[in-house]
Amino acid sequence: MSDIQITIDGAPVEVPEGSSILDACRSIGKDQPTLCYLETLTPVNTCRVCVVEVGGSRTLAPSCSRVAEDGMEVSTDSDPVRQTRKMVFEFLASSVDMSLVDASTRDWMEHYEVDPARYGPPAPPSVAGERDSHRTGHHRLPGLGTAETVHQPVKVHDELYIRDYGKCILCYRCVEACGPDAQNTFAIQVAGRGFEARISTEFDVVLTDSACVYCGNCIGVCPTGALMFRSEYELRDAQLWDEEEQTVTRTVCSFCGVGCNLDLHVQDNRIVKVTSPLDHATTSGNLCIKGRFGYEYVQDLGDLATTPIDVVLASVRASEPGERRRGR
Ligand code: SF4
Ligand code: SF4
Ligand code: FES
Repeated sequence: MSDIQITIDGAPVEVPEGSSILDACRSIGKDQPTLCYLETLTPVNTCRVCVVEVGGSRTLAPSCSRVAEDGMEVSTDSDPVRQTRKMVFEFLASSVDMSLVDASTRDWMEHYEVDPARYGPPAPPSVAGERDSHRTGHHRLPGLGTAETVHQPVKVHDELYIRDYGKCILCYRCVEACGPDAQNTFAIQVAGRGFEARISTEFDVVLTDSACVYCGNCIGVCPTGALMFRSEYELRDAQLWDEEEQTVTRTVCSFCGVGCNLDLHVQDNRIVKVTSPLDHATTSGNLCIKGRFGYEYVQDLGDLATTPIDVVLASVRASEPGERRRGR
């Protein structure tokens, strides 16, 4: 494959044919903000925080998916680019809880002086199931003086993972991972349109009645913490989640002979979640239910029954099943 030459903010850059503009930017250390893009998934261009200006183009182009062409002139810091990125971040942050996005996204939001508060205080959260029952195309007027939000109770339906769609930016990463990019289970999709759009199972059944096989690959790609291990959720809820105290140990899954790599996240001598490296040829970050969640047999439950984490988790689990109010 031959190389092509483009300019990025006036500097000549040579990249292999077929590279995206984002690839080209990264090849010279000029990273761009991204939310829906992940290197293991097909770009779906839903978030638009990565847009750049391309000479001769009428509209801004998503750098994550637009293929670089020989002679292209790209601007990553023009006024339209800055204003658009700021506006996209502000619309998201005014309507979605983005408190758990990664440090790089937080830095970009600071860089663009994102101020979601200028849309007014957030509207009160929906009650459980309210957003899921909205009919497509029947838009409601937002409350006067408040910013419409997707805030709603967290869905806690099983022991393995929770869905907190008040944190969902509709990046489609989970849909892609559950569908053609990894799992091919197609248990979840986007339902509704416009502001009513949301991630749903078929006929909005609870996850345990859906086609979900609990591989957890959707959790692995979610950029906002909307999908989260139940163990992590409960530790956060009890204010015991402490990433600085956690160790991450890479090992090989013992359940079968495929050889998937696992990263065991351990806190207080207890496995609190399992991830898989994106850059591993066997898994590309994906696992099955056994590798992702089948770690309880490792724990020495006799000793751990009295650790602070277990005592608190036992009381949290005994307290309240089903959907929980946000912010507890
Ligand atoms: S756990 Fe796996 S099967 Fe279930 S929704 Fe997520 S990706 Fe799909
Ligand atoms: S649940 Fe997470 S991965 Fe899925 S669309 Fe929402 S933010 Fe993206
Ligand atoms: S990261 Fe490019 S459109 Fe979302």
